[in-house]
Amino acid sequence: MSNTIVIFGASGDLTSRKLIPALYQLHAKGRLPENTRIVGVSRSPFEHEDWRASLRETTAKYAGKAFDAKTWETFAPNVFYQPGDIKDADSFTTLAEFLTEIEGGQETGRVYYLSTMPQLYGLAIEQLGKAGLAHEENGTRRVIIEKPFGTNLKTAQELNCRIHHVFNEDQIYRIDHYLGKETVQNIFALRFANSIFEPLWNRNFVDHVQITVAEEVVIGRRAGYYDGSGILRDMFQNHLLQLMMITAMEPPARYDGTMVRDEKVKVLHAVRKMTGGDFANQTVRGQYEGYLQEEGVPKGSQTETYAALKLYCDNWRWRGVPFFLRSGKGMSCRTTQIVIQFKNVPHMMFGEKSRVPMGNRLVIQVQPAEGIQLHFETKVPDAGMKTRTNHLDFNFQDSIGGASMPDAYQRLLLDAVQGDASLFARGDEVELAWGIIDPIIEAWKSPASPPLHVYQTGVWGPTEASQWMYDQKREWFDVCP
Ligand code: BG6
Repeated sequence: MSNTIVIFGASGDLTSRKLIPALYQLHAKGRLPENTRIVGVSRSPFEHEDWRASLRETTAKYAGKAFDAKTWETFAPNVFYQPGDIKDADSFTTLAEFLTEIEGGQETGRVYYLSTMPQLYGLAIEQLGKAGLAHEENGTRRVIIEKPFGTNLKTAQELNCRIHHVFNEDQIYRIDHYLGKETVQNIFALRFANSIFEPLWNRNFVDHVQITVAEEVVIGRRAGYYDGSGILRDMFQNHLLQLMMITAMEPPARYDGTMVRDEKVKVLHAVRKMTGGDFANQTVRGQYEGYLQEEGVPKGSQTETYAALKLYCDNWRWRGVPFFLRSGKGMSCRTTQIVIQFKNVPHMMFGEKSRVPMGNRLVIQVQPAEGIQLHFETKVPDAGMKTRTNHLDFNFQDSIGGASMPDAYQRLLLDAVQGDASLFARGDEVELAWGIIDPIIEAWKSPASPPLHVYQTGVWGPTEASQWMYDQKREWFDVCP
């Protein structure tokens, strides 16, 4: 069966920076099913040739070494442009006619990619429905929805409801691009294709888990979006909770969209709800110095650019094990890492004062320098029985001969075309995640909420966040890859 991928928001940044380069590279690798057409839709009045020419330029820039002029010539003829406005029902009728024309009336699977302003997601879906574009009588019809999926639990529920009037849940692919990262998928392999880690992966051996997504960049020109969002909505509701789910979930019987997501959702059900004093004790928030001077940030904004949370997962495996989640803009370096910190030995027979924490940890380096390190104590040579922490190091790039890792969107687009939803967020998952984040956002509005600590850029967030860990006899793993 042939396929058509329709991108709404074709003139947007995501399309030129990520989507088209990903589709081009899938084509270059021979992974896109034969007869896959790409149709861009947005309000700008381009001709097919204009759009192709502009995409050639941006794809050459963003695909870098992977770009090849000859291969582009084999890709470009399948790229089309159709002007259209989501607010205008006629645009969808014209689109329907155009699609039938280029598909020649043949049975064709279609994927509609919503890369527009989030406020338009609901309307776009309704228009697709009204124009008969969601009917599956002549091939599958799927819809990919970019983040953010709602701005809180209520709006996410409303959006789910609007979408479910037109598409069934198994036709809906909610993007979280972190799930498209190879190293995130590798957590499944690490945990469930090895017998050596899983016996230790529980409350009997794990002291705590740290999940860090640190970014060196600041908000730049994104104040319009960012100031109304803050890091809890921008990073925690989706990416950090996704990393937590995959780290904490039980093994599914099969790697399949329903089973994987059933297990992930159980983790969110088990996350203990914060109440009363928990918000002050289990959360830290910060704002980098200079945020208030960024273009477009309102005077006196209290929006957080750093947050750290202590979450508990009340189930058989994890009861009592804190999951520390933190993310920040303007941090020391860009790094996403998951640290499984194992417990100290019950008794240090070599007489050293027990260090906090001891060095038994597994570090999953999601990005950059993708890899895994296992840290453990070794004897310091020629120094009596003194010990120190060393590590075994696995580096992904070395293992693929220095080739670069594929961008997340390649995997996600291909999965959606092929109908595999394992790496997409399900409706209940998104709602449960908001159910964890919303009360914290609410609590932070109250005068009794923990203060917003100002931190300098280029450090690991507010000093108060480090102190908070020390007070719990723990330490952040502040190591740049
Ligand atoms: C996005 C956020 O979802 O993820 C951005 O909106 C953030 O604020 C980005 O910078 C980080 O993604 P990555 O893949 O660069 O870690």
